[in-house]
Order: sequence, then structure tokens, then C-alpha cells
Amino acid sequence: MTIAIVGGTGPEGSGLALRWARAGETVIIGSRDAHRAADAAKKIHEETGANVSGTENKAACQSADLVVLTIPFEVHAEILKHLKSALHPGQILVDTTVPLAASVGDRATRTLGVWQGSAAQQAADLAPDGVLLVAAFHNVSSELLKGDAPVDCDVIVCSDDKQAARRVRELARKIPGVRAVDGGKLENARIVEQITALLIGFNIRLKGHSGLRITGLPPEVYDI
Ligand SMILES: NC(=O)c1ccc[n+]([C@@H]2O[C@H](COP(=O)([O-])OP(=O)(O)OC[C@H]3O[C@@H](n4cnc5c(N)ncnc54)[C@H](OP(=O)(O)O)[C@@H]3O)[C@@H](O)[C@H]2O)c1
Repeated sequence: MTIAIVGGTGPEGSGLALRWARAGETVIIGSRDAHRAADAAKKIHEETGANVSGTENKAACQSADLVVLTIPFEVHAEILKHLKSALHPGQILVDTTVPLAASVGDRATRTLGVWQGSAAQQAADLAPDGVLLVAAFHNVSSELLKGDAPVDCDVIVCSDDKQAARRVRELARKIPGVRAVDGGKLENARIVEQITALLIGFNIRLKGHSGLRITGLPPEVYDI
């Protein structure tokens, strides 16, 4: 599976790219600037030896089986419109975007109301028909992803397409330490996105890189 990461030069996108490259996945880093993408990809390739390349966002999406959006909310709609002609039916689009109020100059410990209910549902509205929307990775700190240690966080995966959600849970589990949990329908992304604002508040007040663990479920659900 070829994974394109839109905005993959930023902390969240490059952290995911690093972890998936270490797991042997083929990764294309996307950026507005092909040179910046190539530089970011070169660093990850040198560290991991994996098949990692970099190019402009749209070109990255064209050849990918799965596209991950790691961009700030303020440009979410604009980038999705830009990418529309590069996305195609059957492709999985994973949205990690949190609609933080920081996007409009307010605090990162609050979220904005999104007309569709969540950033992920906005993405579903703007993506071409047949693109399979999955919301995931909102609660995983880039500070943890960029390191070598296992990541102490569960990933809640929400989607209206069960098969796409399962593939993304498999991908999440390739990050050491991560357990993936079925978060139900895409509309639940609204709740998962908001949890990130709470985690950012912990990080600021209590000085850390907080994550999330879902406990009390039968052990087998973390492997499905
Ligand atoms: N950072 C975290 O720990 C974390 C954790 C969970 C979820 N998230 C979510 O993941 C997303 C990415 O987070 P991040 O911290 O990596 O974000 P970021 O550094 O602000 O942005 C990521 C990338 O988006 C591109 N970008 C920035 N401004 C843009 C613009 N005006 N137009 C087009 N592209 C632009 C940039 O790539 P180019 O300049 O190369 O195009 C940048 O490297 C956010 O929605 C965030 O809420 C982040």
C-alpha cells in the first residue's frame, strides 16, 4: 500500500511517515513545495532505508492507495478543493485534522463548531464521491511519534466504511505501542477531534505529551 501524506512536512505528518517507514510501508510526503517534501523524505529514507519520496501534494495523492491529511484546520477546505481532481473513488482518505480554535487566533484548548459536525465530515463533503473517509490519529502527539519509544496512545478510528476503517486500524497498529479501536461511524469524529483540545490543555497545564487509552474492552477488539 502506498501512503501519501498531505502536509507531511509538518510535525504530525512527518511523525506518522517516520513510524510507517520504519514498519516498511511505502510513503510519499506531500507539500505545497516539492523541494521541501523531497528534503523531508530524504531525512526519513536515510534513517529508515524505506521507500520514502516527496512531491507536491496533488501529485502525491494521484499515485497513492491511501491519503492522510495532516494540515491545519484553517486550510482544510481550501486544500481539499485543490486536491479534488487528484483523489479517486476507492481511495481511502484519512483525516487527522482537529478544528482547533487556534485556527482563528483563539486558544488551542478549544475547538470550533464545524457546519458538517467535524473536520472529517467536512472532508467527506468536499471529497469526490466514492472516496472512503476515515477519521483517525487525532489524539496521537507528534512529540511521541518523532521519537523511538513505543507510542503510549490508542487510536480511535471512525468511518462509515467498515473495510476502510479496518485497513486504517491495521495501519495504526504498525506504530509500536498503538492499539486501534473501532470508533464507530464518521459522525463520532466530532467527539474524538474535541478530545485533542483537552489533551493539549493537559500538556500545557501539567507539562507533558498526553495520550489516550481506552480500557475495559475485550482484548480481541484491539486486534480486529
Ligand atoms: N501536532 C500534533 O501533535 C497533532 C496531534 C494530533 C493531530 N494533529 C492535527 O494534525 C494536523 C497537522 O498538525 P501539524 O502540527 O503537523 O500542523 P502544521 O505544522 O501547522 O502544518 C502541517 C503542514 O501543513 C502545511 N500547511 C501549513 N499551512 C498551510 C497553508 N496555509 N496552506 C497549505 N498547507 C499548509 C505545511 O506543509 P507545507 O508548507 O510543506 O505545504 C505544514 O508543514 C492538524 O490539523 C492538527 O490538529 C496534530
